[in-house]
Amino acid sequence: MKTLDAFLDDSSTDAPLAEVILRLASCCEAINNQLQRGELAGILGSAGADNVQGETQKKLDVIANDMLKDALKACPEVRGIASEEEDEVVGANLDGRYLVTYDPLDGSSNIDINSMVGTIFSVLESGERGSAVSEAEFLQPGRAQKAAGYVLYGPSMMLVFSTGNGVTMFTFDPEQSAWLQTVERVELDSDTKEFAINMSNHRFWAEPMRNYIDDLLKGSDGPRGKNFNMRWVAAMVADVHRILCRGGLFTYPWDARKPDQAGKLRLMYEANPMGLLVEQAGGEAWTDSGKILDIQPEKIHQRVPVILGSANEVMCCVGYHAGSDV
Ligand code: F6P
Ligand code: MN
Repeated sequence: MKTLDAFLDDSSTDAPLAEVILRLASCCEAINNQLQRGELAGILGSAGADNVQGETQKKLDVIANDMLKDALKACPEVRGIASEEEDEVVGANLDGRYLVTYDPLDGSSNIDINSMVGTIFSVLESGERGSAVSEAEFLQPGRAQKAAGYVLYGPSMMLVFSTGNGVTMFTFDPEQSAWLQTVERVELDSDTKEFAINMSNHRFWAEPMRNYIDDLLKGSDGPRGKNFNMRWVAAMVADVHRILCRGGLFTYPWDARKPDQAGKLRLMYEANPMGLLVEQAGGEAWTDSGKILDIQPEKIHQRVPVILGSANEVMCCVGYHAGSDV
């Protein structure tokens, strides 16, 4: 099996970009070590502070954020970072070429129940050199991403990423302390019978989404003519991983609980990286009105509605929204 280093060499990944990916992977190994020790490492529970999105931070959110920040600042190729846990963009090396956005611990409410979480990352290239890093450099559409991926901390630790030429998966072998390629190229089925949504928000959704889900629930008796299964891990990283493994549709739509908020998920370190992976695997990634990767971001913590996964199912869901305002 190919190691991560060998893959990056063989795929002629630009050396500075390969270096960023290797630093991210190595930092995630250290985060995984903390997670594996769980309660023993004293990392569970709230750190007491709210993050910039108004959510209570878990201790490990803070720790993982700091670990990634330190690792990326120490990488000469990184010019700046933007994290879910940082209000503002953070400068790294003035002459670095890359900007990294990340969600240090996605699905962090799962930490306390010893369930799956992950680190999501996106790498952009900056046209600037020498000057202090600014938010404006980060505001590039998802299609400009040079690399994107995640590390899933599950029963085994996995690294899944794309540099724009398909999606590949690595599994960490603790015995060899090495990342080994276990899926060369991910190919997502176009059709599916599985969907993922937080059903408890049903009454808050806009009508097109309610109609779509209601039709899925009617199964073989309804207009879709087949029965659907539902899964919800409550960690986007794990739900998307399942979809890359066996297909499906994942959505976190706009809802009326916070009507002024476009959605729950963040464009620049959740929707864009996952959108790139899903498109690169042959799937579709949409808001309710356009492709996620085409959105011109206005701010680093921007939120978007997300519908992604198996191509035909995503387009069916988007079709319910055609002609509606929401
Ligand atoms: O990062 C936000 C997030 O934790 C995602 O990972 C996940 O998909 C979603 O929120 C879970 O939301 P809810 O609490 O509504 O199930
Ligand atoms: Mn998240």
